[in-house]
Amino acid sequence: MTALSRLLATPPSASGRSRHDLMLGLVDAAVTGMWAVSAAVRRPAPPPDGAGLLTLQVIERRVVARDQNVVALTLAAEGRSPLPPWRPGAHLDIHLPSGRIRQYSLCGDPGVQTSYRIAVRRIPGGGGGSIEVHDELDVGARVQTGGPRNAFPLTVPGYGSPARRLRFIAGGIGITPILPMLGLAQRMGVDWSMIYVGRSAESIPFLDEVRRFGDRVEIRTDDVHGVPSAQDLIGDCLDDVAVYTCGPAPMLTALRRLLAGRDDVELHFERFAAAPVVDGTAFTVTIASSGATVEVTPEETLLAALQRAGVPAPYSCQQGFCGTCRTQVIDGANGVVQHRDTLLTEPERAAGMMLTCVSRAPEGGHLRLDL
Ligand code: FES
Repeated sequence: MTALSRLLATPPSASGRSRHDLMLGLVDAAVTGMWAVSAAVRRPAPPPDGAGLLTLQVIERRVVARDQNVVALTLAAEGRSPLPPWRPGAHLDIHLPSGRIRQYSLCGDPGVQTSYRIAVRRIPGGGGGSIEVHDELDVGARVQTGGPRNAFPLTVPGYGSPARRLRFIAGGIGITPILPMLGLAQRMGVDWSMIYVGRSAESIPFLDEVRRFGDRVEIRTDDVHGVPSAQDLIGDCLDDVAVYTCGPAPMLTALRRLLAGRDDVELHFERFAAAPVVDGTAFTVTIASSGATVEVTPEETLLAALQRAGVPAPYSCQQGFCGTCRTQVIDGANGVVQHRDTLLTEPERAAGMMLTCVSRAPEGGHLRLDL
């Protein structure tokens, strides 16, 4: 089987479960966010360790942005045995030595069966995951990984998408899920173009790999051209097009506003982090282990409030799809939890589980959490 036929033979979402972005309420339904996560990707050898995790070793580490702040890691199993297949848009859950779990898009070639590649931007002042990757994961280090899972699948025109062409829009490290999509679109002979934006040429990774696609790719940096408008990002591709984009929140928001109401445009996007809270109200929680009370404001997530108060609370995606922040509600005095995820099952909800990164309580509500 060729690399291309292998790619096409692997379903984009083996579980078939779709997840809908709660932010969609903000804009017209013509714009769609893609949150289809495959939870049951086919897994050949090597067998998973422990709870479905694979232990992989860093076999190569390379700086891929001129400002030195982005490293690409190549990961392989012992003996270079074949790894579970993946399609463009997939990510790995990386279980870091500290216990943090972070998700990084696969940005290598899906046709390579014996290794995965991820790339990580160093983010000082973030949650610490990227610093740990940069400082701790040298060649030879071992990490446990979950996945691959695909929350951002590419549907190719002529092979499931009614669009006639593809427009890729990448902002900075947002190139990582897009890069394998370019290779697939090119191999399939699809009409595609891309704009790749960032603060400066020094800050954006994989310039060499992107430039090999020639005129199909426009590289635009803020220091030379100014900050692009949504129209600049879309260009003149506004008919029968499927847009795939990953980048900073303001860029995605601008694109969603521009494309609201366009029935003839598909918008598929992936976020770096949590979406803004929509229609939130104030409530309080009590931490069962300490008795401390934490007030959650309308603008912040419960997880953010816990972090602000110094309450240890696990998290990973911050978008309600990985389940890392799953927490038991011991009791809720003033009403039921407002579940804003599509991960938990009804029995789990009935048993009092909630995801602190997206779910909340009603106005004035109070929850007691098993933390
Ligand atoms: S952190 Fe992933 S679901 Fe909450």
